[in-house]
Amino acid sequence: MLGWNEVSKGFGTVRALRNFTLRIEPGEVFGLLGPNGAGKSTAIGIALGLVRPDSGTITIAGEGSPRDPATRRSIGAAPQAIALYDELSGRENLRYFGRLQGLAGATLTRRVDEVLDEVGLLPRARDRVLGYSGGMKRRLNLAAAIVHDPPILLLDEPTAGVDPQSRNNILDMCRSLSRRGKTIVYTTHYMEEAARLCTRVGIIDHGSLLATGTVGSLISQHGGESVVTITRTDGSESRVATPDPVRHAAGLIGDASVQGLRIDRADLESVFLNLTGRSLRD
Ligand SMILES: Nc1ncnc2c1ncn2[C@@H]1O[C@H](COP(=O)(O)OP(=O)(O)OP(=O)(O)O)[C@@H](O)[C@H]1O
Ligand SMILES: [Mg+2]
Repeated sequence: MLGWNEVSKGFGTVRALRNFTLRIEPGEVFGLLGPNGAGKSTAIGIALGLVRPDSGTITIAGEGSPRDPATRRSIGAAPQAIALYDELSGRENLRYFGRLQGLAGATLTRRVDEVLDEVGLLPRARDRVLGYSGGMKRRLNLAAAIVHDPPILLLDEPTAGVDPQSRNNILDMCRSLSRRGKTIVYTTHYMEEAARLCTRVGIIDHGSLLATGTVGSLISQHGGESVVTITRTDGSESRVATPDPVRHAAGLIGDASVQGLRIDRADLESVFLNLTGRSLRD
C-alpha cells in the first residue's frame, strides 16, 4: 500500500536516511518514533515526492509514484511545520486546500464543514487563523490533510506543541479515521502517544530503522526486564529485575518487613534505550 524500498538521503555530510525499508499495510496506524533529527520528516517528505532520495524507491498503492498527481491525491499530509494562510479564516483555508485537491461545489462546502466540525473548529470557522491558538492551528493543519478524504494519511508530529485539549482531539480524530479504514503513518517522539494509538511502531535513529513491531512485541524483544523496587520498614530499598514482576511481587505477600512496592515495567523508552544506548527524552 505504501512502501519505502532501500531509500537513502544525505544532506551534505548528514545521512538523514540510511537504506530505509518499510512497508505499511492497508488500515495500519503506524507510528514512526525517533528523536530530533532521526530522519522522520525526511522519510515523510520522500513519500510525498517533496524530497528526492539519493537512492531507493517509493511505492504507493501498488504501483504509483508520489509525483503522479492522481496517486498524490490518495495521500493527505499534515506537515510538521504548520502550512496555513494566517490572513484567511479557517473555512477559507480549507476551501483553498480542498480545491487544490480537486473538490468543488456542494461537495467542497460539505466536506469543509464536516472536517471543521470534526476538529472542533466550526464555532471559529469565520475567524482569521492569525488569531488561532497553537493547538487550533494544529487541528486545522490536520483538517487540511483530510479535507479530500484520502485513504492514506501522513501526519508529521501532528501533536507537536499543543495543549492537552487539542492533543486529545487530534488523537481521537486519528482513532476515528482509523476506524473508517484510513491508513495512517504518524511520526512522533512521544512514546506514550505511539503506544496508545499505533497498531505498529518503528524505531528510527540517525536515519536507520532499528526495529518494527507491535508495542508489545518490541517491549518483549528489546525492552529488557521489568524492575520491582521494594522498600522495607528499616528504610532499605532493593531493586529486582525480573521478566515477571507481578509473580515476584506476589511472593512478597505476608512479608511484614515490606513497606512499599513499585513495579516499573519495560516500555518503549526501555526499548529505545536498549537499541541505541541513549534515552529518547531530550
Ligand atoms: N533540507 C535540509 N537541509 C539540510 N539538512 C537537512 C534538511 N532536512 C533535514 N536535514 C537533516 O537531516 C537529518 C534528519 O532530519 P529530519 O527533519 O528528517 O529529522 P526528524 O526526525 O524529522 O527530526 P524532528 O523530530 O526534529 O522533526 C537532520 O540532521 C537534519 O538536520
Ligand atoms: Mg521532523
